[in-house]
Amino acid sequence: MRFSRPAILSAFAMPLIAAAGNAPAPAPAAGAPVATSGPSTNTGPVTWADFLTSCQTPGQIALTYSEGPSEATMEMLETLKEAKATVTFFANATWLQYMQYAGVTRHAYLDGHLIGMTYRLPSDTSTGRTDAEIKEDIGRASRTIQDLIGVYPKYMKIHESNLKDPRLLNLVKSMGYTLVGFNMDEYDYKYNTAQTSGQIAEVYNAMFSKQMDAYGRKASYVVAGYDVPSTGAAAGLPKVVNTIQAHGYDMVRLDGCTNDKTPYKKDPIQNNGFVGDKKSFGAAEYKHGQNAVKNVTPQLGQNPSLTQGGSAAKDANGGTMKKSSASRTLATLASTLIPAMVLAYLL
Ligand SMILES: *[C@@H]1O[C@H](CO)[C@@H](O)[C@H](O)[C@H]1NC(C)=O
Repeated sequence: MRFSRPAILSAFAMPLIAAAGNAPAPAPAAGAPVATSGPSTNTGPVTWADFLTSCQTPGQIALTYSEGPSEATMEMLETLKEAKATVTFFANATWLQYMQYAGVTRHAYLDGHLIGMTYRLPSDTSTGRTDAEIKEDIGRASRTIQDLIGVYPKYMKIHESNLKDPRLLNLVKSMGYTLVGFNMDEYDYKYNTAQTSGQIAEVYNAMFSKQMDAYGRKASYVVAGYDVPSTGAAAGLPKVVNTIQAHGYDMVRLDGCTNDKTPYKKDPIQNNGFVGDKKSFGAAEYKHGQNAVKNVTPQLGQNPSLTQGGSAAKDANGGTMKKSSASRTLATLASTLIPAMVLAYLL
């Protein structure tokens, strides 16, 4: 089971990696997709072209992570702080009901990272639900994030198992969300041990080198990663940052990637405009780029700041934590393996 995911993902990632080698494709226009008026009943095809998969400026690279927050996110925040680099985290609102993980996402936002959201339909189907019900479910997740960081997310990662649902995708677009895809997979679920996580940087190295050999110029990348302890994302990150630095690429958040000054929504459901904050692209505290970091390989799944403070934490209802770090790891593993097969089928 543990090994099925890399094999499956490799199969579908090939065309994407090949596509990434071409001259940089024009990125979708900055800002939101065009609004549609009235309730969405559009079930027309939604293709990969409807997703954000590259940046506007060659030489940019936007690292994105989904499935978190988790212990891995916390570890990554430390590396990114040292690197003075920013990325995009798609928060899974389910985990934000636990104080321990809510704190991680808030920390990420305050550190200057862009916060997007992940979404997955209940029972993985839009059938039997009205548009209004689906919108309300999306709105609930969005409000959970807003409670924490003060703004509603705009950049959205749809869970793999829902990517074949054009009704959902059209609905999400009509609500003003930006659908995010990728043109590079860092394979952190494959290189998921302390011994192999160093290979993640090799994925970047190979991608950059092939691009330069073939075209003599840089491309731009939107990278898919998973900030959970069952992947090597956290352990591999120092070397990844140093590889990006060595090749002269510029690390950006997704708003920097699309030149988007308003990377958050005004409303979780209505498509009635967007807002920026002081760290958004073009604002005073917006940051991009990176510094080299000490190339240490942290211990996977170990984070002192979480195990000390987190164990005694109470959830929003005053109860003790229902899920330990270990259950977070297992739950994530189970929830990611099966959808990957569906995605392989889709692509
Ligand atoms: C969030 O995490 C829960 C628990 O692991 C999972 O069931 C759910 O599918 C995840 N949601 C998304 C949008 O990935």
